[in-house]
Amino acid sequence: MKEYTSESLREMYLGFFKARGHKVIPSASLIPENDPTVLFTTAGMHPLVPYLLGEKHPAGNRLTDVQKCVRTGDIDDVGDERHCTFFEMLGNWSLGDYFKKEMIPWSYEFLTGENYLGIPSDKLAVTVFGGDETLPRDDEAAELWEKAGIKKENIYFMPRENNWWGPAGLTGPCGTDTEMFVIRKPKCGPNCNPDCSCGAFLEIWNDVFMRFNKQADGSYTELRQKNVDTGMGLERALCVLNGKSSVYETDIFEKAIQKISELTGRAYGADEETTRAFRVVLDHVRTATFMIGDEKGIVPSNTDQGYILRRIIRRAVRYGRKIDLPEGSLAKVAETFIEKYSAVYPELETNRAKIFEELDKEEAKFSKTLQQGLKEFEKCIGGLERKNAFMASKDPSYVPEKVIGGKQAFHLYDTYGFPVEITSEMAKERGYGVDLDGYKAAFEEHQSKSKAGSEQKFACGLADHKEETTHLHTATHLLHAALKKVLSEDVNQKGSNITEERLRFDFNFPRPMTQEEIQKVEALVNEKISENIPVVMRELSLEEAKREGFTGLFENKYGERVKTYSVGDFSKEICGGPHAASTGELGTFKIVKEQSSGAGIRRIKAILTHE
Ligand code: ALA
Repeated sequence: MKEYTSESLREMYLGFFKARGHKVIPSASLIPENDPTVLFTTAGMHPLVPYLLGEKHPAGNRLTDVQKCVRTGDIDDVGDERHCTFFEMLGNWSLGDYFKKEMIPWSYEFLTGENYLGIPSDKLAVTVFGGDETLPRDDEAAELWEKAGIKKENIYFMPRENNWWGPAGLTGPCGTDTEMFVIRKPKCGPNCNPDCSCGAFLEIWNDVFMRFNKQADGSYTELRQKNVDTGMGLERALCVLNGKSSVYETDIFEKAIQKISELTGRAYGADEETTRAFRVVLDHVRTATFMIGDEKGIVPSNTDQGYILRRIIRRAVRYGRKIDLPEGSLAKVAETFIEKYSAVYPELETNRAKIFEELDKEEAKFSKTLQQGLKEFEKCIGGLERKNAFMASKDPSYVPEKVIGGKQAFHLYDTYGFPVEITSEMAKERGYGVDLDGYKAAFEEHQSKSKAGSEQKFACGLADHKEETTHLHTATHLLHAALKKVLSEDVNQKGSNITEERLRFDFNFPRPMTQEEIQKVEALVNEKISENIPVVMRELSLEEAKREGFTGLFENKYGERVKTYSVGDFSKEICGGPHAASTGELGTFKIVKEQSSGAGIRRIKAILTHE
């Protein structure tokens, strides 16, 4: 078996597709742009949704990249062998270009080719869509695999649960897929298949054949074009290819493990508990490094992405404490990741100081209250235990109370900074639960602006290209320009989130806007709407766009050529679209709320009406 490193695998993958006419594009930000359905980029296809839906990509219709991704659904499982919150996904795309009959032979060639992964073909298994009441089974894919060289008995037809792929948001492009597995050991029995948990089959790659677009109401429409979306998780692939049992035993974590050992005097793998604590620190520090160091970097806070970041840093601190990781260590571990990744993700180097500062700050903040909070937590458990013992002594049929009250959980959060998920995890370790509804009620009582850490927020996003959403996107550009004119040229976009019902726009400004300023901004936007100015899209080189005065936060995203949208001379932005054809379509613009969204950041919510 060949040995792979993260560097060699990335290079081999991108090189393979480059040689087959693909443009290598840089990873997009971890924070999705204009997509209110999710907090983080969760797959390589995510930033490409508009192009999968039919927009023209500046780099062409064959793309390949390695994309930074974060999935936070399983934070509590991080610590086992395979869960990571951050990962890199290698992928390639056909945007209405090639389809199954090109992709399957290429997948086979990459997996088995002597100059590529060189996996013997009898060590490979694949699954294909087995059909259901709405779609026939994918015999074409199965035949292509067999023709390529996969043994017939290693081709499995599986149900929709296994061989259907859609993005993390509820809407968007989706389709049947075919997944590829390395056969690690003999099947555990006659019914064993790639879905079996016995470990005989290890997934390595996934080709999605995207033909549908899922609507907010759950129905599907046929896409204008047939796409291919493939995804190979880098960490997992390395682990499988190198015959390791854990993603933490790859070159990616080597230096960081050494650093934690140095700082704690402990060895990774010494015992189960130590290993688990190492892994939590490794994963969470790596994720935090990428979140803070992102080109649209975030900082710990109590809402949305910032809350998730806070939660993982604090979880790392708690686990670090278990192995005597001294305070101030997270930044030192982060440094090993910055060094490991900077060649691929230069933004980490650029943001090195910020990464250290934010990690240090958050670590210090939580370290201050951690000890006391743990004591308080023990008091809660102790109180319940005493109560249970007392009641049981009076009444032998008494069912012990095993739930920490919502108010207590909120107190742990509010006073000691324990995210409720951490309290729940600690409670679980002791055989207890937490009254989450009670927690929520207590939380909402104390804070009107309640936001929580779930990736899924809305049912519908800009990705669906609904007319209303597109109009609000154009209105967002007009608002941005109007704020610059009315308040200050220094005002810049700090966040944007658009649904079909409203836009939400965050920008830097040190104080609340006055009523008069709000009215001026509204009037200016409405003036531009009434002038019915065409919205003009032009593809330019980044240099040309800058020279012509286009603004954009995410300038590195699409490589050399960028899409620009202008509304006369009033608004000029680098942006992926889509937009209204002209401002006259928008209706009447109205600001419904202007509020704070963190230190020095204001937030506007606005709508369009058509009375
Ligand atoms: N988008 C597909 C996945 O994430 C390839 O598995």
